[in-house]
Amino acid sequence: MRIVLLGAPGSGKGTQAKLIVEQLQIPHISTGDLLRGAIAAKTPLGLAAKEVMDRGDLVSDEIVLGMLKDRLSADDASNGFILDGFPRNVTQAEMLEQLFQELNLTLDHALLIQVDPDEVVARIAKRAEIEGRTDDTEDVVRNRLNVYNEQTAPVAAFYQQQGIVTEVLGTGSVEDVQARIQAVLRF
Ligand code: AP5
Repeated sequence: MRIVLLGAPGSGKGTQAKLIVEQLQIPHISTGDLLRGAIAAKTPLGLAAKEVMDRGDLVSDEIVLGMLKDRLSADDASNGFILDGFPRNVTQAEMLEQLFQELNLTLDHALLIQVDPDEVVARIAKRAEIEGRTDDTEDVVRNRLNVYNEQTAPVAAFYQQQGIVTEVLGTGSVEDVQARIQAVLRF
């Protein structure tokens, strides 16, 4: 199964992706994690991406797509995957569509996790105290939410035209949200 997870920063995409992969035995591919890995490894790509991520802006489409292509060609992705954080704008959605056509793949589900902005701000503030992610400061979170509303929210409409979007309420406990997703994916 090939799944795209959509939703604002802090909506729970990463949390839920980790639970879905346990059930479906497919890899969780997070472009945010791939970028943070490149930063930790101090690669030229990582060093270029860090400044952009620390502002809460989007890293260039070409850089992210290049990383994603490499990851999707790994053996463990041959039976499906869950994409978290990609596509992040309509251009990336079109690039992914093109890539899927080249690889003769289809996307089965785009799940849109819906959480109010106040709740995501509270969740990220809590995470900032625990993990200290450099893009979890109040100003940067505000910018990430603006970027989401302007650039990423239209991706849902892109997939709605293909009839594969399901909205999932992302509030309540992690288990509540997981149960809603399980009902959609039927596993
Ligand atoms: P990325 O790493 O993708 O971050 P994000 O989308 O902002 O998402 P988050 O990780 O903040 O939130 P999430 O929805 O995964 O929620 P989580 O499960 O962690 O991107 C970071 C940056 O990388 C971007 O700003 C950009 O610069 C760059 N980037 C990444 N992809 C890119 C792309 N494709 N193109 C260009 N640039 C790209 O949960 C959040 C918190 O809430 C956690 O503490 C969690 O424990 C808690 N939580 C989860 N569920 C619940 C619940 N039900 N109740 C209470 N708390 C909960």
